[in-house]
Amino acid sequence: MTAQNHRPAPGGENVKVEFDDGIAWLKLNRPGKRNAMSVAMATEMNQVLDELELDDRCGVVVLTGEGDAFSAGMDLKDFFRATDNKPDIERHRAYRETRNWQWRKLMFYGKPTIAMVNGWCFGGAFTPLVCCDLAIAADEAVFGLSEINWGIIPGGVVPKALSTLVNDRKSLYYIMTGEQFGGKAAVEMGLVNESVPSDQLMGRTRELAKTLLAKNPTVLRAAKNSYKFVREMTWEESAEYLTAKLDQTTMVDPERGRAKGMGQFLDEKSYKPGLDNYPR
Ligand code: COA
Repeated sequence: MTAQNHRPAPGGENVKVEFDDGIAWLKLNRPGKRNAMSVAMATEMNQVLDELELDDRCGVVVLTGEGDAFSAGMDLKDFFRATDNKPDIERHRAYRETRNWQWRKLMFYGKPTIAMVNGWCFGGAFTPLVCCDLAIAADEAVFGLSEINWGIIPGGVVPKALSTLVNDRKSLYYIMTGEQFGGKAAVEMGLVNESVPSDQLMGRTRELAKTLLAKNPTVLRAAKNSYKFVREMTWEESAEYLTAKLDQTTMVDPERGRAKGMGQFLDEKSYKPGLDNYPR
């Protein structure tokens, strides 16, 4: 074991990190409160995400929940009620802390992210779920936008996040009925990539993380984040941006992946990219 393995993992009372061969299992850690997201959790999550981005023990982040919940959404007591009667500036800071980790950081994170939905996933939890690059759910997970049933609208940035992945009919159906749905339905509507029985959830997530760990990290970061940036651009802007991004990535890539790949295909004839993962 090297000295670096003895470094403490980032995290605190509300957020836990476990390193496992390049994977950082990043856990919302309030199982007694079904991982409801408090102000303190937001502060910790911002620190942990910043640290993991530079930590060489982390190549891929898997965001999940401790216990039987992914997250029961925003904490009605330790987020909403706790900020209701506070001076406006404190409320502003609590909301900003939450926005920072749930979408600003996660959406364009420097390392690949997978949401592993292990159980309850309600309300505000949809935002970090959508903003992770990929997502795998347990068949038994229970998703819901329950807000309509207790007198509020889905807030934060949940409807905006949802609308980037799910079509309007499905989004409005669940926003307006508050009905719950499981992992298989989440796949069918494009909210998660896959759903597997819960006893296979960690195994399948680890397998996907390993696939990502085998890629060139500089190119992977540029590929996933450029996809997300061009969603907001016109065709002309996208073409200009992607051409420039391709050149820039080639320039900064320490592995010189482009030159290597071209050489292997054109000169050595040792590699055919089109036959990778070809189902035989
Ligand atoms: N905010 C604050 N506390 C929450 C919470 C939330 N969103 N979700 C769960 N908790 C707390 C409960 O108050 C309870 O605390 P207590 O032990 O101090 O009484 C604890 O977590 C366990 O919750 P409980 O309801 O007893 O667990 P359960 O397994 O029977 O049910 C849920 C789990 C997720 C179905 C249920 O807790 C629930 O409906 N939560 C709210 C979900 C929601 O509407 N979220 C949207 C918020 S924007």
